[in-house]
Amino acid sequence: MADTASIDYREVNLRENSSTASTCTGSNRRDFKDNGFRMTSLQQQLCSSNIWIAIVASFLIGLLLGKFDIELLSNKASNMHSIVMKEATTSADSSGAVLVTGATGRTGSLLYHELKRRGVSDVRAFVRNITKAQSVLGCTKCDESEGVYLGDVTKPEDLERAMMGPRSGGSSPVTTIAIAVGGSSRLSPDMQRQVEFDSVVHSVKALAHAHENQRNHLRVVLCSSMGTNQARPPSSFANILFWKLNAETFLSTSALSSTIIVKPCGLPEGMVGKNSTLVVGHNGTIMAGTEYHSVSREDVANVMAESVVMANECGKSKHLRFDLCSRPGPVTTDLKGLIEGARWEWDN
Ligand SMILES: NC(=O)c1ccc[n+]([C@@H]2O[C@H](COP(=O)([O-])OP(=O)(O)OC[C@H]3O[C@@H](n4cnc5c(N)ncnc54)[C@H](OP(=O)(O)O)[C@@H]3O)[C@@H](O)[C@H]2O)c1
Repeated sequence: MADTASIDYREVNLRENSSTASTCTGSNRRDFKDNGFRMTSLQQQLCSSNIWIAIVASFLIGLLLGKFDIELLSNKASNMHSIVMKEATTSADSSGAVLVTGATGRTGSLLYHELKRRGVSDVRAFVRNITKAQSVLGCTKCDESEGVYLGDVTKPEDLERAMMGPRSGGSSPVTTIAIAVGGSSRLSPDMQRQVEFDSVVHSVKALAHAHENQRNHLRVVLCSSMGTNQARPPSSFANILFWKLNAETFLSTSALSSTIIVKPCGLPEGMVGKNSTLVVGHNGTIMAGTEYHSVSREDVANVMAESVVMANECGKSKHLRFDLCSRPGPVTTDLKGLIEGARWEWDN
């Protein structure tokens, strides 16, 4: 019979670490810390007291039944807790439907095709022009039966519909949104705000509404832009970057499981095959002292696709925001390594 006084919350944690080993091999302790990090001390106390209540209640029942075995009971309590933690970890990595918004755009269409090429089973496109979708995405009917949703990102109801999936058939809701929408400096200031910022808020709201009961596996990958953190004199361009920065900021507090913000440098036409070495960084520092200020849309789409399919690393932040640019040099093939390299030095 175990000494009940020695079974405290710390010990329960250690048992969880060993039981999640199959999910987070080699870093299970860190993984638990990551999950535990999100618990307030009040939650920890409640959690701890729930276990104690279970133990005490079981003790009393055991006394009544004359079959008391505190070691078995305490193991059961810790196992119950570890099952909950394990689900939270694995579901964050599970795949679901991916909705590409701006899917008929130059980056969005490359992203859409790249996700399909990588075998993502349910890739959906959010478009505002069926004819363009037919020529760019290769769909025939280009309707919901083919995972193509007609709508405007400034209209929340259009996004809500796309998030839920076809009305008929047993398709599941979207779990990841890959945003490749972009406004133009020709739009009015109000429309720039709606396209660059409000639409991101609408998208996240629609995603959350589609998952009323469980939201710990939802992910957004946003194509923003380098330079959003620089002060600029008023201009249409500055206005767009301002609203992009607002979208980035909103995402970082959106309470989704994972948010990855890719901030490319210039996207010139016809750049494929040049400057093949990709570089990542923060706050524009990768532009310092170099004449290379561009990256191909194909590379941006590939990095976004990798961000969509990349499993969450146990113990590491699931929220990244990084500049992306390129240089002449060998082709960067390890995109996961590239994205991992964009973590802050303390996030390892
Ligand atoms: N150009 C650069 O040098 C540069 C540099 C850094 C970052 N970026 C950013 O990178 C992203 C991708 O750029 P890109 O040049 O590949 O984009 P793009 O070709 O201009 O495509 C933008 C997409 O957004 C869609 N869109 C715009 N307003 C919409 C609305 N109200 N409802 C639904 N869809 C809407 C467009 O639909 P349609 O296809 O129907 O037009 C298009 O598919 C953008 O956010 C851009 O700002 C650009």
